[in-house]
Amino acid sequence: MNVIVTGAAGLVGAEVCVRLAVAGHNVLGLTHHRKPPFPTTPSVQWFAADVTRPDLGLPPRSVDRLRADRCVLVHAAAVTAFGRDDSVYDAVNVGGTAHALALAGRGEMPFVHISTAYVDQPYANGYERSKAAAESLVHGSGVDAVVIRPSIVVGAEATGAIRLFRHMYVLLRLVLEGKVGVLPGRYDACLDLVPVDRVADLVTDVVQRFGEVRNSTLPAIAGSPVTLRECSEVFAEYPSFRVPRFVPPDVFRPDALPDTQRRYHDRVVRLYEPYLRSRTVFDDSATRAFHGRRPELTGVAHLRRLLDYCLAMGYLR
Ligand SMILES: NC(=O)c1ccc[n+]([C@@H]2O[C@H](COP(=O)([O-])OP(=O)(O)OC[C@H]3O[C@@H](n4cnc5c(N)ncnc54)[C@H](OP(=O)(O)O)[C@@H]3O)[C@@H](O)[C@H]2O)c1
Repeated sequence: MNVIVTGAAGLVGAEVCVRLAVAGHNVLGLTHHRKPPFPTTPSVQWFAADVTRPDLGLPPRSVDRLRADRCVLVHAAAVTAFGRDDSVYDAVNVGGTAHALALAGRGEMPFVHISTAYVDQPYANGYERSKAAAESLVHGSGVDAVVIRPSIVVGAEATGAIRLFRHMYVLLRLVLEGKVGVLPGRYDACLDLVPVDRVADLVTDVVQRFGEVRNSTLPAIAGSPVTLRECSEVFAEYPSFRVPRFVPPDVFRPDALPDTQRRYHDRVVRLYEPYLRSRTVFDDSATRAFHGRRPELTGVAHLRRLLDYCLAMGYLR
């Protein structure tokens, strides 16, 4: 099978490329600014692309060849950082999906779209709004598609390993190093931390068994969320970590924080605040019916594994 992967140098995209190649498929990994995550191999070729441009900025000859090859298109490219301008999310996450769909539609390519589990509730930020808009485009496109909705993607189940420490990991470091001691949040809020291998395995399975799940939506979740209370208890098991205090969001006052903490709050914590009060538990029955496997570790055991990996890599001390 021939498979195009956008966002191929990203956290999820790179893992998907590896799995597809190991399964014997020919992969065209479309990168952007970031370098390819591993060298070209006989089964994985890299090509620079820009999803904000028609045909993803690919030369017409390449587009003709991809259409003739009847590729499957996995669309994982997105701006995933929070706090960016709406215009950026619109151009990349919404416009990029429109361009990827146009390419898929003209080439009759099955389309595997990576969305987010958080599109189904009031949007916490511009990123989520753009991911919901992108998903609507997929549903309205007439292209044969499967939508995969990961929750919060973190290190691998068996090892805790992750290639890029970003997003929640940045918040985690600020908290555990004591740079932020008080956060708005509810101790009964829960985080669904899905191992990156779980997401990549599911995407690979969907590519290979597309016909079985055509036009469906599959959550990619851990299914064993951890509450902030459990997180605090796990943090307390590590002598070098500072354990944060969560204050109910309705009484939390950022202006009462010491200057440095307030700056961290304004730059980072504020972006994650909706997740620190969310009690959403996702339903992945459709995914389990298709893919069977859920992570075996409980959320708390997996959290320990993630922290151990961060310590082993020197990301946390
Ligand atoms: N990570 C999570 O927790 C999470 C949770 C739910 C859903 N998701 C979704 O899963 C998908 C993959 O996420 P990820 O965690 O792998 O994110 P990621 O590591 O940020 O990867 C996204 C990739 O998209 C590329 N990209 C950005 N702008 C582009 C453009 N104009 N043209 C082409 N490529 C562009 C980026 O390349 P450059 O860096 O080189 O610009 C990056 O490699 C995304 O759709 C995301 O919304 C992620």
